[in-house]
Amino acid sequence: MSRWIGTANRGFASYAMEELRRLLPGVRFTQLAAGEVFLMEVPGYQETVQETLLASEPIFLRHVQPVVRELPLSGNADDLQELSHVVRLAESQFEGKRTAVHVRRAVGTAFPYSAADTKALIDAVLLELDSEPSLQAPEMILSLYAAADSLLVGWGTPRELLSDWPGGAVRFQKEEGQVSRAKFKLLEAERAFGLTYANYRNAVDIGAAPGGWTSLLLERGLAVTAIDPAELHPSLHGYPRLTYLKKNASEAKLIPGSYDLLVCDMSWSPMQMCRLVLDLQAALAPGATAIITVKLMHRKPLQTIREVKERLQTAFHIRKAKQLFHNRDEITLYLEYKS
Ligand SMILES: C[S@@+](CC[C@H](N)C(=O)[O-])C[C@H]1O[C@@H](n2cnc3c(N)ncnc32)[C@H](O)[C@@H]1O
Repeated sequence: MSRWIGTANRGFASYAMEELRRLLPGVRFTQLAAGEVFLMEVPGYQETVQETLLASEPIFLRHVQPVVRELPLSGNADDLQELSHVVRLAESQFEGKRTAVHVRRAVGTAFPYSAADTKALIDAVLLELDSEPSLQAPEMILSLYAAADSLLVGWGTPRELLSDWPGGAVRFQKEEGQVSRAKFKLLEAERAFGLTYANYRNAVDIGAAPGGWTSLLLERGLAVTAIDPAELHPSLHGYPRLTYLKKNASEAKLIPGSYDLLVCDMSWSPMQMCRLVLDLQAALAPGATAIITVKLMHRKPLQTIREVKERLQTAFHIRKAKQLFHNRDEITLYLEYKS
């Protein structure tokens, strides 16, 4: 038996649990934060469960941490003493590694310390253990969840926890003059799917307005064909590498085999999106990458995603489907064009 904390985007925990029930028979859930954070008890060793989660990563599970120890809270300095003791006992996990300390506090927890204070104290313990406290590119993450009356302690690599951000909540700095918040979705997709947009040359952006995604790809040095009947933000007009087709994507005429990246963020019915993307496939070079958001329009997201995958699989390999932190009522697909 092993215990875990799972985290999904707010309102989507029930779908993460549905996926986990299929993956881990006998799993039992208790809610920690409504619709978002839950505790799960799984009949199976931590290593086996971890392997299963990595082999078939659930779409709606944003973050997961094993619960290695549960410390009852006293609400005073004893809580930090106990935590330091647990970290010292686990020395071999952290020794010689860059370690990040992630602290999450549930509303109403009896844990009296802020994330910053806890981190400062544990960083000092890590230094004693020959570990390098670091938030950048950590090799190990000590993950703490302060629940109502206990502190849930676990650790793992960023890959094992499915993210190198506390609870998988990826934060990007908003830039001055940023065209749209949608830009964060494409930035997060780059990290989540291990891509480097600068390695691509020619992108087509379907449903591009106001232009957040297009602006990111232009900044990375790509030539971009942006298609949208709506207006692009005026700040984009000066780019020489931008071709703007102010029309419905179904009317766009594109040069066959010419794009190595397709991005599509149309906020439209998933089946109409599939039809449009499949109709434009001849414009893609063999092996081209596609990043596509899928709007979850009704109450059965898992079924919608299954249907969308079936349709797109006729032309694309499905590399990954994930609800990213910056996705609202949608998920993001990472695809590779077959031929
Ligand atoms: C959520 S916005 C895209 C935001 C964009 N990714 C950004 O970063 O600014 C969706 C856009 O899709 C466009 N759209 C919807 N259906 C379309 C279609 N059939 N062809 C082209 N664009 C379409 C809409 O006009 C709208 O501007």
